[in-house]
Amino acid sequence: MSGTPLPPQHTVSALAPDTQPPAQGFLSHTLSLRLPRDLNMLWTVGAMLLVVLALMVASGLTLALSYTPDANLAFSTVEALERRAPSGWLLRSLHITGASFFMLALYLHVFRGLCYRSYAPPRRGLWLVGVMLLVMVMVTAFAGYVLPWGQMSYWGADVAGKAVGAIPLIGPLLESVFLGGDSPGTPTLHRMFVLHFTLAFSIVGAVILHVAVLHAKGSNSPSGIKGQAAAQSLPFHPYFTVKDLLGVVLMGMAFTAVMCFWPQLVTEPANYRPANPLHTPADIEPEWYFLPFYGMLQAVPSKFFGLLISGGAVVVLLCVPWLDNRQNSSPIWLRYGRVAGLALGMLVVSFIVAGLAGRHHVQGGWLWAGRLATFGYYAYFLGFLPWQARAARKGVSA
Ligand code: HEM
Repeated sequence: MSGTPLPPQHTVSALAPDTQPPAQGFLSHTLSLRLPRDLNMLWTVGAMLLVVLALMVASGLTLALSYTPDANLAFSTVEALERRAPSGWLLRSLHITGASFFMLALYLHVFRGLCYRSYAPPRRGLWLVGVMLLVMVMVTAFAGYVLPWGQMSYWGADVAGKAVGAIPLIGPLLESVFLGGDSPGTPTLHRMFVLHFTLAFSIVGAVILHVAVLHAKGSNSPSGIKGQAAAQSLPFHPYFTVKDLLGVVLMGMAFTAVMCFWPQLVTEPANYRPANPLHTPADIEPEWYFLPFYGMLQAVPSKFFGLLISGGAVVVLLCVPWLDNRQNSSPIWLRYGRVAGLALGMLVVSFIVAGLAGRHHVQGGWLWAGRLATFGYYAYFLGFLPWQARAARKGVSA
C-alpha cells in the first residue's frame, strides 16, 4: 500500500517500549506481559469467556437468593421472580442468554485451538485443563437447565437418567444416585442445585489455573511463532487490552440484541410449562448447544453405545495433542493447506449436521445424516490428525 509514511513516533515499533527496561514483578505478568504481535480477533474470545463467566456467577448468585429446589415450588418461584420481582426478568434473561453465549464462545475457542494447533507442546497441559473446563461447563449447563422445573427440565432429566441407567452393571445404581429415586423429583432438584453452584465455583478455580498455565507457557500465535522476542511481540497494554475490549463490546451488542429482541433463540417454549410427569412432550430435546451430542447419541441403535459415541465426542478432544503429536505449533493448514481446509470444513459441517439430526430426532433421512455426521466428526480426529502428523514426519506432500 502506498501513502505518506507515518513519522517514526507514530509507528508501532516506536510505540512498543522495546527499548525500555523490562517491567518487574506484577506488571511484567499483567499489563506489560509481551504477546505475539499477530494475534487475531479469535484470541479475544478468551477475554469474552472471562466476562461471561463473571456475569454468570454474579447473576447466578442473585438468582439463587430466591430459588427453592423443591419440585412443588421451583417452577412457581422462578416464574414469580421473572414476572413480579423488579428487574427479575432481566436477571433471568442475563443468566439464560449468558449460558448460550458461554457455550458458543467455548466452541469458538476450542475451534481456534484446533485451527492453530494450540494443543501442541508446550501447551498440552493447557489444552487438557481446557477440555476439563469444557466438561465442567457442560455439566453445569445441564444441571442448571433442570432447575426451573419446566417440562423440558423434567423430561431432560428423565432422558439423561435413562441414558446413564443403560451403562452395564453400574448403570441402575448411577441412575438412582443421579435421580435420588425412581423418577425425577425433589431429590433430583437438590442434587442438580448443589452440582450447579459447586461446579460454577470450581470452574472459576479451573479458569485461574488455565490462565496461570497460559502465562507459564506463553501464547501461541497465527504464525505459530512463539513471539516473546521484542521484535515479534507487543505489550498486553494498550495493544491487546484495546483489542479484547473491542471483542467484548461487540459480543455485548450481540448479547443485548439476542436477549431483548430474539430471546426465542436461547429459550424453549415448552420449559415455560410446569413439569408434568403424566404428560410426555412430543419433542424432548436439549438446548441447542447439546444437540450435536444428542444427535450422535441417537444415531446409534444401542443406548449404551450411543452414550459411548456421544461422550467420546468430548473425550476425543483430550487425546488431540497425542493424535497429532507434532512438536511445533504451526497452524493446521501450514503444510497441506487444501486437505486441511477440507478436513476442517468436514468437522464443522459434521458438528452442525449432527445437531440438526438431533433436532429432527434422527428419523427417516436424518438417521443416515446423523450417522454420516458422527463418522465425519470422528474421522477428523482419528483419521485426519494422525495421518497429517505421520505425513509431516515423513515429509510427504499431499
Ligand atoms: C471457562 C472456559 C474457558 C475460559 C474462561 C478460557 C479462558 C482463556 C483465556 C482468557 C485465554 C487467553 C486468551 C486467548 O488465547 O484466547 C485462553 C487461552 C487458551 N485456551 Fe482457554 N478458556 C476456557 C476454556 C478452554 C477450553 C475448553 C479449551 C480447549 C479444549 C481451551 C484451550 C485454550 C488454549 C489452548 C489457549 C492458548 C491459546 C493460544 O495461545 O493459542 N480453553 N483461554
